[in-house]
Amino acid sequence: MKAVQISEKVYWVGAIDWNIRDFHGYSTKRGTTYNAYLVMSDKPTLIDTVKKEFYGEMMARIESVIDPKKIQIIISNHSEMDHSGALPQAVAAINPEEVYVSDMGFKDITAQFRNQDLKLKTVKTGDKIDVGGDTISFVEARMLHWPDSMFSYLEKENVLFTNDVFGMHYATGKLFDDENEERFWLYEAEKYYANIVLPYSDIVTRFLGQVTQMGLNPKIIAPDHGFVWRKDPAKIINLYAKWAAQAPKNKALVVYDTMWGSTEKMANYITEGLRNGGTEVIQMSMHACHRSEVAKELLDSSGLIIGSPVLNSGIFPAMADVLCYLKGLRKKGLVGAAFGSYGWNGAPVDELTKMLEGMNVEVVSAAVKSPFAPDTDTLEKCRQLGLTVSQKIAEKLK
Ligand code: FEO
Repeated sequence: MKAVQISEKVYWVGAIDWNIRDFHGYSTKRGTTYNAYLVMSDKPTLIDTVKKEFYGEMMARIESVIDPKKIQIIISNHSEMDHSGALPQAVAAINPEEVYVSDMGFKDITAQFRNQDLKLKTVKTGDKIDVGGDTISFVEARMLHWPDSMFSYLEKENVLFTNDVFGMHYATGKLFDDENEERFWLYEAEKYYANIVLPYSDIVTRFLGQVTQMGLNPKIIAPDHGFVWRKDPAKIINLYAKWAAQAPKNKALVVYDTMWGSTEKMANYITEGLRNGGTEVIQMSMHACHRSEVAKELLDSSGLIIGSPVLNSGIFPAMADVLCYLKGLRKKGLVGAAFGSYGWNGAPVDELTKMLEGMNVEVVSAAVKSPFAPDTDTLEKCRQLGLTVSQKIAEKLK
């Protein structure tokens, strides 16, 4: 296992997780990477570690450059376990002078690794440390992704280490942006934003402004997932600015589950209504789609129509799952409605409307409900429902 040099003094010493397919509930069809970086300054410095299971891979890459015991400083930009899981073992093996963390990082790491002396020392925005021949400064990036998150900036080499931000779950043996094809990575970058960063979009917008005000203009952006941005770091910054703005688009999702095909038949007619109205529509059965794929498609959607059959006086479990997940992502500016079939108790379909309201979706129609299989009139109501949502989206886009 070899390190990869990314600038004069910085080496990538992370790990590639080719086979992970579920990242705490997020479907990662292309795996991921856990990036860690070794700064070969006069005081060798390790920035972040990796998921616990990949400790050996990280240490082997470090050993290809330097005896790990010569590392004097560790920086932990984020306490989530995919970056700090290997920290206790690394501290034990390296015996650094200090491990720098944010205030919240101190609390989180102390609570995660109880009764262990990890040599933690706190830093805040504007603090700088001398790493011998260069300086690393810190910028707290609260909620990007957790309250503890921070960026580290290697000043002379102009390398910004951004932890989760500007990353993607994308396992690749090609470490740089100019080596990877946009037709593969763009979907994954957008999906990552939708599933990880979307709830904090207002913070992203403010933070990007703050970084500009601070005069940071990094030559290289080195995130902890995916690849390193060396050719065009502005590309991912501009994509984040666009995604954070959540600009409306004439697009809607029809998200549903079905028991014996009745709710799916209704979904087909709602989709037809949206198409008749000129709205781009993606119909997503929860039999076929993963919740994180729905989140990805929701990022640039303006409409969300949800449907469920009734099971044991409630909605289908797969719909409860996806709606709980989407609620947490706090997508703004949606209009929507609900639909579903039932046997003898239609009330749970109305619960879907309440769930939309609980997600701050502007509900534009009463739910369309069908006892057992939908008849011709009900299917026409479904088509009209799609048309109504389409017209409302068009109004909002004027
Ligand atoms: Fe990649 Fe929030 O951890």
